[in-house]
Amino acid sequence: MLLHKGKKINIAVFASGGGSNAREIIKYFKDSEKVNVCLILTNNPAAGVIKIAKESGIPCTVFSRENFRDGEKISGILSCFKSDFIILAGFLWMVPGYLLTQYKDRIINIHPSLLPRFGGKGMYGHFVHEAVKKSGESVTGMTIHVVNEKYDEGKIIFQAKCNINPEMSADEIASEVLKLEHKYYPQIIDKYIAEFTRKL
Ligand code: GRF
Repeated sequence: MLLHKGKKINIAVFASGGGSNAREIIKYFKDSEKVNVCLILTNNPAAGVIKIAKESGIPCTVFSRENFRDGEKISGILSCFKSDFIILAGFLWMVPGYLLTQYKDRIINIHPSLLPRFGGKGMYGHFVHEAVKKSGESVTGMTIHVVNEKYDEGKIIFQAKCNINPEMSADEIASEVLKLEHKYYPQIIDKYIAEFTRKL
């Protein structure tokens, strides 16, 4: 993979679930001259993101835990599609070392809380929002960060907050946070890539 100034940047999106963030990312970059969503990857054959990829005409591949661990298939397909960055959008598996090395500082994740609060192993999806509710927080939000070898501990790029109250259910909190995710994730990816390539 050769990154240089002026090159159109390819991003591969990894998702495990519904894929609403992936959908917003695809929409945002649809007519971009600088960034192209080249590939969707999922570990879940029932993931909603597969339909989203199909409807958007973006290649999509499903991979197994073995594929992910040993790396040959994943690295092969990423280089075949000339992916420059990896975007995790509701992707639940820990990113293996070979990808962290190949894509150093070029893997971005979104987490539905204000990290470092409510992050770490087992803290995903509704578990996060239930923990937030239980702790009686009046503010929550989302975090966009660079991925490193520890769950949710990479450098924070951006956070956005929303107010919550004790009457709200975990689902209602999730839906407020998801609005922030959809609003900010695509534009923060765009900015991060622009900044990264400016320094090349
Ligand atoms: C989002 O809340 C994201 O922050 C978290 O998983 C959820 C994925 O939602 N990591 P979707 O699949 O993008 O709809």
